[in-house]
Amino acid sequence: MTPAARTFRLAILISGRGSNMAALIDAAQSGKIPQGEVALVISDQPSAPGLQKAYECGIETLVIERRGRSREEHDQEVTAALRARQVDLVCLAGYMRILSSQFIEAYRGRILNIHPSLLPSFPGLEAQRQALDHGAKTAGCTVHLVDETLDGGPIIAQRSVPVLEGDTVETLSQRILEQEHELYPAAVASVLARAQSGQAVNL
Ligand code: GRF
Repeated sequence: MTPAARTFRLAILISGRGSNMAALIDAAQSGKIPQGEVALVISDQPSAPGLQKAYECGIETLVIERRGRSREEHDQEVTAALRARQVDLVCLAGYMRILSSQFIEAYRGRILNIHPSLLPSFPGLEAQRQALDHGAKTAGCTVHLVDETLDGGPIIAQRSVPVLEGDTVETLSQRILEQEHELYPAAVASVLARAQSGQAVNL
């Protein structure tokens, strides 16, 4: 007998604009992530524009600021909120914080991130600028599992874009971002489909 299809509960962590968050919410709400629903959006920044978008989409939003606490204390509050809502998969989307090892351990294999470069090239901040500074001819974006390394966890999916003559950080970032908005929902859908058939860790 085929087991009943399960709906996995997603949380999206943001710090700012939230365009990848919006792409994930749109995809989940329009059936493009058949096994997933977005249960929660958390921002560490009260002024993050993404919060309003999430609210307008009917998603629960929480602001959990660090406010002088240690990384571990802040992450404890975040993970308590995730547990209370029985979140299965955490999607980082422009979340500008390094996660504590306790957070990573608690959700090992269940935290995804999107990064605007073809990892392992150009981890860290300003990946698009790094690509231009190095004279890269191809750039792109990567969805990867989060582990203790900076943007170094196992790669789930990638898309490439050309770097064009005369590109600026802005033009290249925009070209990459368009691909991010397709890649992240597709990668989440594929992770959940694998989880549904028992192929992924922990979910
Ligand atoms: C994206 O470029 C993403 O790859 C990086 O941070 C940016 C977030 O943009 N991690 P947005 O908040 O999703 O619009």
